[in-house]
Amino acid sequence: MSFNFFVKSNIDFGRGALADLSEIIKGYNMKSAMIVYDGGVKAAGIADKVVAQVEKAEIPYVIFDGVIPNPTNEVVEEAAAKAKEAKVDGFVAVGGGSSIDLAKAVNVLMTNPGKIGEYGGMNMVKNPCLPLIAIPTTAGTSSEITNVSALIDTEKVVKYVVIDNNIVASDVIADPELTRTVPVSVTAATGMDAITHAVESYISNMATPLTEYNALKGLSILYENLPKACADGNDMDAREGMMLGCIITGFSFSNANLGLVHGIAHTLSAHFGLAHGMANACVLPYVMHYNAEVCPEKMVDLAKTIGLEVSGDLDKDKYLLGDALLALTKQLGIKTLSEQGIEKKDFDMLADDVLKEPVLGFNPRQGITKEDVLDLLEKAY
Ligand SMILES: NC(=O)c1ccc[n+]([C@@H]2O[C@H](COP(=O)([O-])OP(=O)(O)OC[C@H]3O[C@@H](n4cnc5c(N)ncnc54)[C@H](O)[C@@H]3O)[C@@H](O)[C@H]2O)c1
Ligand SMILES: [Fe+2]
Repeated sequence: MSFNFFVKSNIDFGRGALADLSEIIKGYNMKSAMIVYDGGVKAAGIADKVVAQVEKAEIPYVIFDGVIPNPTNEVVEEAAAKAKEAKVDGFVAVGGGSSIDLAKAVNVLMTNPGKIGEYGGMNMVKNPCLPLIAIPTTAGTSSEITNVSALIDTEKVVKYVVIDNNIVASDVIADPELTRTVPVSVTAATGMDAITHAVESYISNMATPLTEYNALKGLSILYENLPKACADGNDMDAREGMMLGCIITGFSFSNANLGLVHGIAHTLSAHFGLAHGMANACVLPYVMHYNAEVCPEKMVDLAKTIGLEVSGDLDKDKYLLGDALLALTKQLGIKTLSEQGIEKKDFDMLADDVLKEPVLGFNPRQGITKEDVLDLLEKAY
C-alpha cells in the first residue's frame, strides 16, 4: 500500500472561536489585510464582527464585499487588482464556499503571475501563497480546509477547479455560532453538498484508507445532524455537528476528489447559475444508484454508516444508500431540476458538457455515456 495524504490548516474550533481572530492576525505580523465576504454575510451581522476583530489587531485593512455565489474569473481579477493596489500581505475570508474560494483564488495571484484562468487543474500553483484565515459561515463546502477553489469561466461557460496544496488556508476559525443565521434552504443545500462530498470521495477511485476513514466518520455525523439543523436553525448542537462533519469530510475529498455528481452540478451551475448544493443534491440519489453497479460493497458500507439495516443480499442492499438519500432530499425540500428552472430542451447540451468534466475521471463507474447522463437528468427532473 502506498499513498499521499495532505493536511495543513491550523483549526480553531468551537462556539465563540471568532474572538481569537485578532490574536491570530497579530501572529502573522501582517502589514495590511484584505477582508473578503458577500452581502448575505454582511446582512447577517457577521462581517461587522470580523471587521471589529481586525481593528482590534490594529492593522490597516481593505474590504472586498463583491463576492457572488459561484464566483467568476472576473470577480477574482477585480478583487486581486484591489488587493495588489493595497499591497495586502494576508487575507481574512468570512462566508460560505463562495467567499473562501474567491479569497483562495485572489491569493494565488498575489504570488503567482498571470490570470486566474491559467491555474485550473491540479498542482498548477508554483509559488506559496500569503496567509489566509478562513472563517466558514455555512456547513458546508469544507473550503476552509480543502486545497480546492471552484470558479466559473464565463467565456468558456464552465465551472473549473484550481486544486493545489499551496492554496490551503493557513488558519481556520470554525465557529458554529456563525452558522446560526443561515436560512433553512441554504442549510439544506450546503449540508447536502457536504454529504455528497463524503459519499463521492468514499467511492472515488482515488480513495485511500485515510480518506475512507474520514468520509465514513464525516457522513455519519452529517447524516445525523442535517435534519436537526434544518428543523431548528437554533439547535446549536446540530449546527456544531454539521461544522465538525464538514471538516472531517474535507480531509477526505481534498485527497480523494469527487465524481459524477459534481460533474453534473458544475455543468448546471456554469450554464444556469444553480446553487452548488442544490445542483448536487437533486442528482445525488440517482448517481448513487448508477454507481452502485460497480461498487456494491462500498454502497453497503455507506448504508451501514448511516444506520440502515441491510438484508445481506448485495443485489438489493447496494441501492439502500441511494434510496435513503432520495428520502432525505424530499424531507429537506431539495428542488428537482424542473423546480430549479431547468428545461428538457437543454438536456442534450448539458449532457455533452458533463462528459467533458475532468472530475468524471475519479468516479468509480467509468465508461459514462451521453445516454447515461441524459437518463440521470431525466430522473432528477
Ligand atoms: N473549495 C471547495 O473545496 C469547495 C467545495 C464545494 C463547493 N465549493 C464551492 O463553494 C460555493 C458554494 O458555497 P456555499 O454553498 O457555502 O454557498 P455561498 O458561499 O454561495 O453562500 C450561499 C448564500 O448563503 C449566504 N450566507 C452564507 N453564510 C451565511 C450566514 N451565516 N447567515 C446568513 N446567510 C449566509 C451567502 O450570503 C449566500 O447568499 C460554490 O461555488 C461551490 O462550487 C467549494
Ligand atoms: Fe461540492
